[in-house]
Amino acid sequence: MSDSVPPRDDGGLPGAPSNQDQAPGEALTPAALQRLLSSAVFGHRIFYYPSIGSTNDRALELAASEEPEGGLVLAEEQTKGRGRRERTWCSAPYAGIYASLILRPAIPATRAPLLTFMAAVAVADTLNEQFRLRARIKWPNDVLIERRKIAGVLGEVRGSAPEIREMVVGVGINVNQSAADFPAELEGKATSVRLETGAPADRAAILAGVLEGFERRYARFLRDGPATLLREWESLSTLTPGAQLSVQGPTGRVEGEFTGIDLEGALVVRAPAGSIHRIPFGELLDSRLT
Ligand code: BTN
Repeated sequence: MSDSVPPRDDGGLPGAPSNQDQAPGEALTPAALQRLLSSAVFGHRIFYYPSIGSTNDRALELAASEEPEGGLVLAEEQTKGRGRRERTWCSAPYAGIYASLILRPAIPATRAPLLTFMAAVAVADTLNEQFRLRARIKWPNDVLIERRKIAGVLGEVRGSAPEIREMVVGVGINVNQSAADFPAELEGKATSVRLETGAPADRAAILAGVLEGFERRYARFLRDGPATLLREWESLSTLTPGAQLSVQGPTGRVEGEFTGIDLEGALVVRAPAGSIHRIPFGELLDSRLT
């Protein structure tokens, strides 16, 4: 598909590897998604690929060539799916949701993490609503069932600070994977909707729910600010105020008591000696889940 051609439904990419010999589950086509979607803008223009390196990479290219806000890159498989901190995202064909949304929010780049929180909240909320799962969010935006990861979010910003020029929010959700679809090192650490409920799930319905929930929160955030989003994030978080934690931040490891999340999504920790640390990004190493 060339950039100048309108988004289309058939995913007939010249040169794209085909998965037809892999007995795929039902395809998550643009038509299947749009039949269920009631968002105003998000997901109305879809770039669909049977196989692609990374939907985030493609969405960043599209964003750089003026694709408007709400454009969605959707793939049945990723051969170079990327996770946070240079990790790979395991993207079994026709099993998960691999989707990247283009945003153009007129907000300072320091607030970009809040948009990844927003995606995690939309995913957790959709899984809880549609399947009665008890999905929670591990800072910053891993979606877990108990301690097993079911979804992740990768937000990437382009444009020089202080304003965001364009942003891509990529979401990976494990939906119909069986245990054998995950590499051995993820045993006990990764799960899917199907593994949790015992039944295959409709990827289009999940993605429609996520896009609608994301769009609703995005409009409210731009209009009213982050307060409601932060309350929702906190209600889904694995952390509660007072929890002891250990976090790897940009300047090293910090241990102490979780006191909250600030207005830019940074973790605020009180060290045993009483000093307050603000950790804008990083990795939670250990925490007592309540
Ligand atoms: C993480 O938890 O480390 C983030 C995982 C994000 C994976 C998604 S799948 C769709 C999009 N394309 C990518 O290459 N990564 C994100």
